[in-house]
Amino acid sequence: MTPASVTAGAGLWGGRMLLFDEIPSTNTWAVEHSRELGHGDVVRAAAQTAGRGRLTRSWLTVPGAGIACSILLRDPSFAPVAPNVGQAAAVAVSDLLLDDGLPARVKWPNDVLVRGRKIAGVLAELAPDDGAIVLGIGLNVSTTPESFSAAGLAETATSIHAAGGTNGDPDSIFPRLMCALERRLDALCRGGLDAIRPDWTARDALVGRRIEVLVPDGGRIAGRCGGLAQDGRLALTDDAGTGRLFWSGDVVKIASPY
Ligand code: BTN
Repeated sequence: MTPASVTAGAGLWGGRMLLFDEIPSTNTWAVEHSRELGHGDVVRAAAQTAGRGRLTRSWLTVPGAGIACSILLRDPSFAPVAPNVGQAAAVAVSDLLLDDGLPARVKWPNDVLVRGRKIAGVLAELAPDDGAIVLGIGLNVSTTPESFSAAGLAETATSIHAAGGTNGDPDSIFPRLMCALERRLDALCRGGLDAIRPDWTARDALVGRRIEVLVPDGGRIAGRCGGLAQDGRLALTDDAGTGRLFWSGDVVKIASPY
């Protein structure tokens, strides 16, 4: 499988843009080809046939209706902030949506919501071959409510158009996403998570709420969400009053503020 086009200088920090018409998953391709990719190279596809989400979930990319891309990060300055690149990406996506007047919120670990529905997801992975980070972003631009219904996502997903945002198409929105992303990733490298955390906290869909976290061993822990900890973990005070911090998991229930 080869890209339909490769454009020098169109990626992040002067990297390349590799554009596919259709591909199983931009993340899978970037992980498998990481050795052929340089820092800031962007793999983008108009359609994905096997888009992947966190925790072995799938990601719907309706052809021409969404942005699906993966960015390769290889510069050593990313090593200390590797656990937080997904959070910086979620904040960058929310920058773009807020600029369009949409009430974007971020949800740990790195989802973007509008009015409680997911509009964008981020999947950051390590390429096992060479240790580079592959940062995948999926953003629903013009996906229709009918397409979400057909995929069983009627109540949980939305797109920019469905949420009443700009009429722009994925191609016109994409360069703005790249600018927002470059800015937030630069800030993360320079200042660590502290450079991102205030905006995350201001846009946090969970902080102060009663939530339930599904942890990797299958258990569920309920309590009051304390927001994003200094290192990017999720802070929670459980029902017994014990403070807990999570590196991974899934927030499965969100109630109104305490
Ligand atoms: C999630 O919400 O669980 C993460 C979704 C990430 C989807 C993007 S789309 C581009 C890239 N390629 C993939 O297969 N997944 C990510």
